[in-house]
Amino acid sequence: MPIQIVKGEGAYFYDAEGNKLLDGISSWWVNLHGHCHPYISQKVSEQLHTLEHAIFSAFTHEPAVKLAERLIGHLPENQSKIFYSDNGSTAVEVGLKMVLQYWHNQGISKKKFIAFENAYHGDTFGGMSVGARNVFNNAFENLLFDVIHIPLPDDDNMEQIKEVLQGWFINHNDIAGFIFEPLVQGAAGMLMYEAKYLDELIALCKENKVLCIADEVMTGFGRTGEFFASNYLSNKPDIICLSKGLTGGYMPLGVTSCAQFIYNSCVSDDKTKTFFHGHSYTANPTACSAGLASLDLMEKEETWAQIAMISKLNQKFVIKLKNHPKLKDVRSKGTILALEINTEEHTHYLNNSSESIASYFLNKGIIVRPLGNILYIIPPYCITENEIKHVYKVMEQFLEEL
Ligand SMILES: Cc1ncc(COP(=O)(O)O)c(C=O)c1O
Repeated sequence: MPIQIVKGEGAYFYDAEGNKLLDGISSWWVNLHGHCHPYISQKVSEQLHTLEHAIFSAFTHEPAVKLAERLIGHLPENQSKIFYSDNGSTAVEVGLKMVLQYWHNQGISKKKFIAFENAYHGDTFGGMSVGARNVFNNAFENLLFDVIHIPLPDDDNMEQIKEVLQGWFINHNDIAGFIFEPLVQGAAGMLMYEAKYLDELIALCKENKVLCIADEVMTGFGRTGEFFASNYLSNKPDIICLSKGLTGGYMPLGVTSCAQFIYNSCVSDDKTKTFFHGHSYTANPTACSAGLASLDLMEKEETWAQIAMISKLNQKFVIKLKNHPKLKDVRSKGTILALEINTEEHTHYLNNSSESIASYFLNKGIIVRPLGNILYIIPPYCITENEIKHVYKVMEQFLEEL
């Protein structure tokens, strides 16, 4: 049965039975600065007394304009426009549609996408299509559009991936875009890969007029140690999808940013070229005010000191556990740490050990939500050094008792 949460404060939840639980996963990767952060709560409350919601077509409002301007200031330089939606899946859906309409508006028939194996980009039909074919979308498989799925690049397979793609580019001229979770594939099991390979793939795509979408729904806002994972790249994506940490974990909001040339492709006196996409709660002012308050905190030195502290501790812990006999792998990128636990079953989202791992940690007052046999943490940045070290200690105890 689900546990009833009655209160949140800093890195902790409190349940209906009075238990204090450390939120090791930022409440599904959304919370950045801690629960009920007084500053964000204050700003949201002020907004609620000014303008709670407004139609965002033919009308606009200050929180949306300000948030767009400030996000553009943080995103890679080639990003110049912001499109609002409601969540991570819609941010991705909008990105895919922008790519398709970019080609359509020029009368060019390009409709195929490249994506990584194991990818997760959300639960809408576009998001499911570019995602891996797996338990999340079995029931809908026949309805998903075809995608070229390539393996995550490494030293051994990079040349082969490039050859396969080059073959496609030579024989077909139908690839519209390449979508990827930069550097860390979240739901796939916190799988990590190097920026240099992604840079090469983006370069190859650009040479062949394929638009690139970075799905930073999970990796955005400091998770990988940089403001955006795209900051590790020399070749910048044309489109970037954001959600989760966008409002500090307060309200649902999605953003799809794009380069000027993509925006320009939809600006015309011919109304059929319009990018027709909207949601009732698009750019909700209250959500935007949470986003602005969260950005205020992201811009503080203390936040980056916390991100650096968590990242450093993670790196040290990875070294400590490197050859642990109970682990298949241990890895970290910035504030994300993942332990792939050796079990009789293979590594898989439905691996049965997930529940027992979660309940072991819950009994110790820590919330984790393993992806099968992959135990990971992605904590709010307000977590203290002692609290992180406590989580590591419980992880080691858990491995010892396995
Ligand atoms: C990389 C990525 N893209 C998209 C999504 C979908 O976001 P949402 O759950 O807000 O629809 C997720 C959610 O986990 C994600 O990790």
